[in-house]
Amino acid sequence: MLNTEKLLSQFNPVTGEMPGAPMVKRHLSDLRGCFADTAAFEKAAAAGNPLLYSVGAVEPASGAGDLHYGVGLLMPGKIGDEYYMTKGHLHSWREAAEFYIGLTGEGVMLLEDEATGESRMMPLRPNGVVYVPGHTAHRTMNVGDKPLTYIGVYPAKAGHDYTTIAKKNFRCVVVERDNQPTMIERK
Ligand code: F6R
Ligand code: ZN
Repeated sequence: MLNTEKLLSQFNPVTGEMPGAPMVKRHLSDLRGCFADTAAFEKAAAAGNPLLYSVGAVEPASGAGDLHYGVGLLMPGKIGDEYYMTKGHLHSWREAAEFYIGLTGEGVMLLEDEATGESRMMPLRPNGVVYVPGHTAHRTMNVGDKPLTYIGVYPAKAGHDYTTIAKKNFRCVVVERDNQPTMIERK
């Protein structure tokens, strides 16, 4: 059944707004435990609770072969020398891959193989696509000075497992070193 309402969405590539799509907003307090520099986190949290990112999700159908997608907006900023980031997750259905398309701004994605812990930092830029294989934890960072927007497309049945990351976090962090995003091992 071709339900026209579900076939088309319009989004604003600068603000990430997508009329009609349910939007999740994450503020600094939602990211407690994610940043390596806990003293810098507490100092920032005492000063306010800014919006770090939002995701508008489109879930047209949930059959075995269906796709969902989300438009993300991630604000620029840092906690200590670590960039504003998303919580990061694995997919509950581990085989589920995803791809991200950069729209505006300058970001990177941290990818971590669940089995080996092998980590990669990939640029997420306008006209660039990052492929996230299954079994790979993924987190997005804004490494520029303007809002970062992007689209992520994933199987409808992927699901989000935040618990595994909440327990052990990512093995690596992305920090600014000599004005460059740099991936280093978490201490
Ligand atoms: C969906 C996906 C993205 C993220 C978004 C926010 O599978 O990877 O749409 O949901 O970048 O990040 P999280 O979900 O980690 O808060
Ligand atoms: Zn995902």
